[in-house]
Amino acid sequence: MSDPRFAEHVVLVTGASDRGIGGAIASRLASEGASLALVSPERPEQLLAELAEIQSEPARSVWIECDFLRDGDIEKAAAEVADQFAQLDVLVNNSGIDISGNFADLAPDQWQRLLDVNLTGALRMTQAVLPQLLKRRGNVVNIASASGLAGTPGLSGYGTTKAGLVGLTQTLAAELAPQRVRVNAVCPALVHTPMAEQYVKELTSEIWDRIQACHPLGIGAANDVAAAVAFLASAEARWITGVALPLGWVASYPLPVQFEERPRRSC
Ligand SMILES: NC(=O)c1ccc[n+]([C@@H]2O[C@H](COP(=O)([O-])OP(=O)(O)OC[C@H]3O[C@@H](n4cnc5c(N)ncnc54)[C@H](OP(=O)(O)O)[C@@H]3O)[C@@H](O)[C@H]2O)c1
Repeated sequence: MSDPRFAEHVVLVTGASDRGIGGAIASRLASEGASLALVSPERPEQLLAELAEIQSEPARSVWIECDFLRDGDIEKAAAEVADQFAQLDVLVNNSGIDISGNFADLAPDQWQRLLDVNLTGALRMTQAVLPQLLKRRGNVVNIASASGLAGTPGLSGYGTTKAGLVGLTQTLAAELAPQRVRVNAVCPALVHTPMAEQYVKELTSEIWDRIQACHPLGIGAANDVAAAVAFLASAEARWITGVALPLGWVASYPLPVQFEERPRRSC
């Protein structure tokens, strides 16, 4: 039998929480042989227990405390990954926060927090681990969003940070390709996670109906995102860099149901 795709690979996943997309990505990659550095503010006890069940020697997982809003945490986390594993093959920039509401009400501190976590955090983490990725000709997968490719009413701040992450993906892909480091992004539509539940709770039933209509394949599961990330991070995607892959929505067609505010491509 051939080795699993991520045997002897070390993967850093930011924002790997017990129940979200990061947790699903960690579980998926562990099931394919990876060792994991889970980098997040809160220790994901449940996830660590689950990973211990999945993994067998020499694969292992460690949690490294890191809050993107605290000075120096990102650089410390990158140094600890180097100490713990002495190699890094894949970085998954998954940490993110969501603040929704009308554009006119977006407060300066909310805007700053969105930028700091969703965009500056990903940029600085990538800078901090780049020397390790260069040594292994590794790759980066950024978790952007459908709202980073197409305007979504109520998500002006969040969507702008995710559009920035798509821009960072494309620029870095071009810059790092000569050194054989690939950089890709996924742009999921709505995925069932606690973050999404919070967003959905604030919607009227009419808007919820319209959002469902933007998901012809149904609302996604965290494992759907994890499967796409596993592909892009694997050697099977060795000839793919700089893509921002839409997941769970049809980016190339006008939507069947339209928001008045945005007559085309509204999710
Ligand atoms: N759910 C969706 O519909 C959807 C759709 C498209 C894209 N996404 C993106 O997918 C990613 C994961 O989202 P999710 O739905 O799985 O939500 P989630 O469970 O809330 O995951 C967000 C993660 O980000 C971490 N985080 C929050 N603040 C942070 C900070 N200051 N520093 C470092 N990490 C921080 C959280 O850590 P703690 O748990 O330790 O607080 C958590 O692990 C996000 O980037 C999100 O924008 C989600």
